[in-house]
Amino acid sequence: MKLTERISRISVSKTMAVMEAAIKLRDQGIDVVDFGPGEPDFPTPENVKRAAVRAIEANFTKYTAIGGIKELRKAVVEKHARDFNSKYDISECVVNLGGKHALFNIFAAVVEEGDDVVIPTPYWVTFGDIARFVNANPIFVRTHESDGFRLTAEVLARGLTPRTRMVVVNSPNNPSGAVLDDAEFGRIAQLCRERNVFLLSDECYSHFLYDGRKPFSVGSHTDLKSHIIIAGSVSKTYSMTGWRIGYILAHPEIINATIKLQSHSTSNPTSISQKAALEALSGPQESVGIMLAEYAKRRKFVLERLRAIPGVKCAEPGGAFYAYPNISAAFGRSGIKDSVDFSGKLLEKAHVAVTPGEAFGTNDHVRISYATSMEQLDKGLNRLHEFMSGL
Ligand SMILES: Cc1ncc(COP(=O)(O)O)c(C=O)c1O
Repeated sequence: MKLTERISRISVSKTMAVMEAAIKLRDQGIDVVDFGPGEPDFPTPENVKRAAVRAIEANFTKYTAIGGIKELRKAVVEKHARDFNSKYDISECVVNLGGKHALFNIFAAVVEEGDDVVIPTPYWVTFGDIARFVNANPIFVRTHESDGFRLTAEVLARGLTPRTRMVVVNSPNNPSGAVLDDAEFGRIAQLCRERNVFLLSDECYSHFLYDGRKPFSVGSHTDLKSHIIIAGSVSKTYSMTGWRIGYILAHPEIINATIKLQSHSTSNPTSISQKAALEALSGPQESVGIMLAEYAKRRKFVLERLRAIPGVKCAEPGGAFYAYPNISAAFGRSGIKDSVDFSGKLLEKAHVAVTPGEAFGTNDHVRISYATSMEQLDKGLNRLHEFMSGL
């Protein structure tokens, strides 16, 4: 069948391929330990679920304002102001159907065909593919494992071209867990304004930071607001991946452009989910602390266990719920050439599913999600240790 050239520019997320292979093994009755999923393993908090039930019972089940109900937009800007000291008006906020949708709409509204979009490596797969979909050129700039994959304004400046329209920063980062230094983030925003490019900050993991570090948003630089676009989501923070609520904070012209796009595509985010998100953002926040404390325990455990495996190195993830160990010591052994071979063999021989670094633009690593129980982590890491030792 002849499909559009546009759709052929993108491919199914490589993170899906591992998931599918793991499902096949499971269907054969094999006990697979899955370190693949990028979603919290906690249930959605009870108060949030109750708010959704109340919405249904009150028949709040019809179309709403396309860019989200006013109360929710107000709750987003107020929560952002409380947490990060930002200053957004509700005219600078739109609610979308998840963070991914927010990102897609941002690219559609501000990136022109032929523009360059700078994306630091390792990157979350979707950034590059959305850039390709809108016929822009993703320009990848490398961050280094020896610096904990931290981005600096200096590294970023090397990737900027006269055609750069936008820079995408994701801190804490998926897949490395790297967290940008707050002051460096400010310098990056300053650089973006000087070069007149947009800085898109994907904040979906902003509340999962370790070692007592406080959440930070570049949106706190209110003087640089004209060049900053924030993409946020309730998916990870409140374990609401299935509810599909995200948001954008940006200049009103960008907001209005995305509302226009939503008016012809998705229409409003689900009415019931909006009420749930309203409760998540403005109700009690205990659940976030409980999840963070659990992730902190698991992170420590995973790091210790990974570092105890001969040949494995792992940069310290400052946030999110991923570890990104370097497994290149396995290359050249048992026919393993790269991270894809490694992940395939690990799944086949040890029944542990991890995501190959190739999906995130580096080849020496695999991503391990610790959004799973301690018991599964223990079992999977034992298997990984044995697998590496047996190569
Ligand atoms: C870096 C990053 N941004 C955005 C998202 C989108 O999440 P959602 O569309 O569920 O809000 C994800 C999900 O994995 C992510 O890892």
